[in-house]
Amino acid sequence: MMFIKVKKGKTKQKNYEIMLSHLEYFLVSSDSFISSLSNLSAYINYFLDDINWVGFYLYDGKKLYLGPFQGLPACSEIKLGSGVCGSSAKDMKTYVVNNVQKFKGHIACDANSISEIVIPIIKNDRLLGVLDIDSPLHSRFDEIDQLYLEKVITKLVDIS
Ligand code: SME
Repeated sequence: MMFIKVKKGKTKQKNYEIMLSHLEYFLVSSDSFISSLSNLSAYINYFLDDINWVGFYLYDGKKLYLGPFQGLPACSEIKLGSGVCGSSAKDMKTYVVNNVQKFKGHIACDANSISEIVIPIIKNDRLLGVLDIDSPLHSRFDEIDQLYLEKVITKLVDIS
């Protein structure tokens, strides 16, 4: 398979629509969940502007451990309830943080990160992990990002 660079949309919403419309191609062609996550981290990295880290933390029943990602090396384990990722995993809800320095317990992996979005991956009420995206910009993620990234994760869960 060769990745043909799809033309990005002019607006954020349009860009997400284009991203979603091609998503299945990268996910269904994989036999394993890890392969899908690897391609998905690269795919999101291609489509989203102004991000410095995108990747997955997977849940082993006790803690989160680092999965496929794009960006600088990051912490390999996160306790449930710790930082933004651990909070999202524990509460099983999306966290949008405009300024990580104001988030109590935030775990700094890349000093350039200022805002962050974390989306839990849940299948049949069971936590599989989280998608984590960091940005060097303040308030980079809004309700449009949340809406579409949650759709991306829903598609991932549906076909995994
Ligand atoms: N900032 C995250 C840790 C993971 S890194 O950003 C890649 C957190 O507070 O959970």
